[in-house]
Amino acid sequence: MAKVYSCGELRLENAQAGEEITVRGWVNNRRDLGGLIFIMLRDRSGLLQVAIDPRDNPQAHATASEVRNEYVLRVTGKLRPRPEGSANDRLPTGAVELVPTHLEILNPSKPLPFQVNEAANEVDEMLRLRYRYLDLRRPEMQRILVLRHRVVKFIRDYLDERGFLEIETPILMKSTPEGARDYLVPSRVHPGEFYALPQSPQQLKQLLMVAGMEKYFQIARCFRDEDLRADRQPEFTQLDLEMSFVEQEDILQLIEGLYIGLVDTVATDKKLLARPFPRFTFDESMARFGNDKPDIRFGMELTDVSELVKDSEFKVFSGAIAAGGQVKGLRLPGCAGYTRRELDGLVEFVKGFGAKGLAWLALDSESGVLTSKSPAAKFFSPEGLAGLAARFDDSERATGAGDLLVFVADAKPVVANALGRLRNEMGKRLGLLDSTTLAFCWVVDFPLLEWNADENRWDAVHHPFTAPKPEHVGLLDTDPAAVRADCYDIVCNGYELASGSIRIHQRDIQAKMFELLAYSPEDAQERFGHMLTAFEYGAPPHGGIAPGIDRTVMLFAGEDNIRNVIAFPKTQSATDEMTQAPSPVDARQLSDLHIGLALPQKKADKE
Ligand code: AMO
Ligand code: AMP
Repeated sequence: MAKVYSCGELRLENAQAGEEITVRGWVNNRRDLGGLIFIMLRDRSGLLQVAIDPRDNPQAHATASEVRNEYVLRVTGKLRPRPEGSANDRLPTGAVELVPTHLEILNPSKPLPFQVNEAANEVDEMLRLRYRYLDLRRPEMQRILVLRHRVVKFIRDYLDERGFLEIETPILMKSTPEGARDYLVPSRVHPGEFYALPQSPQQLKQLLMVAGMEKYFQIARCFRDEDLRADRQPEFTQLDLEMSFVEQEDILQLIEGLYIGLVDTVATDKKLLARPFPRFTFDESMARFGNDKPDIRFGMELTDVSELVKDSEFKVFSGAIAAGGQVKGLRLPGCAGYTRRELDGLVEFVKGFGAKGLAWLALDSESGVLTSKSPAAKFFSPEGLAGLAARFDDSERATGAGDLLVFVADAKPVVANALGRLRNEMGKRLGLLDSTTLAFCWVVDFPLLEWNADENRWDAVHHPFTAPKPEHVGLLDTDPAAVRADCYDIVCNGYELASGSIRIHQRDIQAKMFELLAYSPEDAQERFGHMLTAFEYGAPPHGGIAPGIDRTVMLFAGEDNIRNVIAFPKTQSATDEMTQAPSPVDARQLSDLHIGLALPQKKADKE
């Protein structure tokens, strides 16, 4: 009996051993040289060349003549070194080829909607998603799924070694608020009632702490009906984790160790920017980067010049400050030569994020002195301009000739948003985003609450179970906006990878929190009665976190959309192109569920 091998594992030594071998796989491509036929056979492990000479084996040659791309074959024969000069260094099996004694078609394939051996970006993505099983035959997709498997395996081992238990929680459950809409599932048995698919297992993991499990994790599927973006899918996977008797620092250490371990063993082609991971408070991150998920692969930080310009003749600046706002700027290296059109482009860009305009000052490319080219320059004395420019010196580089300074004057949140977005955009345009670097950092000390003016109530910044810092509990009554939480995010290359917090474990504080969030006591009881009750039976202090697996794998794989790291993802409009879900159901199913449609029913009835 021939021994079975994977295509990609065969080497010269196998040829020298002279044994009879069998491989199975798909036809990646076939070249017919009008005598000799070469078939590249592909399986998960890689490619192997099969060389069929009509003089050696007329029968195999006849079969090989019929073969087309993506036929499934089984080939048995002897491996031999490729003839002098025909080895392929770029292929791990490139030194050998298989000469079949037996070649069998296990299954033919219809002509393909797109070529599997063609670059993915050459193919319409909708087509790829419709025929996802063909798309997943691509080596680059298989590489990502292997990486994803390794990430999850590493996580399971890491946590198992540290005494964590993996516990499953239900998919059919009650709504848990994470800020998105729920996916609802109607109950047949209880007319007019619904399950909600979990936005996360948040409440259940806390109840597992009350149950004494101490260290829990789960590779958990979460469902959120929200607007989709490149880093958001309606269903996605979290490493969900919770621990009892811990403080924030314990969770930070555990998760930092996990990510460092992952980069060291799984994402080995990436380098960490810094270990330990830098930490920023929420306030600091907003001030320096304009958002709470800073990309720290590059500098170009937001610089506050309010003090310098508060008495300026330039009313755009002094007026904004007088109105309680601020003026901040960015230094864009090498952009002083921007044309009028390019400058207008920057102005339009920030206007798209709520700024009223963008003032700019260019530094002469030779002298480094501010040029008079800028309309704002005339409002400042030469010393004033020099002082302004000097404010942008940083440890990396003194303000340089040829740089462009840009400013936004407005209310603090508008300045942060507009300049934060511009910073990221310019980082990209100026080529400052090194894709081989993983720049992890922690953002900590988030506010607990934010005021929702439309609804006239407070909203939880993270979720309603997050604990105020113990020293801030008193502020809940007097100044809720000032309350900070033991709440932390892990951020990498500008993406929020994980969020977590120390939780409330005292019933009275939880009830107070629901009150601030404007749940009536009845409402709180109806929605979260199980939590409030559980907290009356000896809930331990606890806390946790939930890293997104999809985003983690996306960064490790160097992809820019989580669709590419999910075997069967949804489209931008939350459809499944392959199965055509969502789809109408027949009237019988609806009536079983006691559901009448307010819309004309689409046809699904087969009768
Ligand atoms: P949060 O809602 O911040 O926290 O989610 C945690 C992490 O899950 C990932 N994530 C997503 N990934 C893909 N598509 C989405 N639509 C999506 N939404 C979230 C992100 C995010 O950082 N229960 C809390 C965690 C806790 O407090 O322990 C929670 O779910 O990577
Ligand atoms: P204006 O007085 O509106 O003609 O604006 C003069 C210059 O200041 C223009 O270059 C505007 O783009 C810019 N500008 C206007 N409003 C702001 C603002 N809030 N922050 C920064 N620059 C602004």
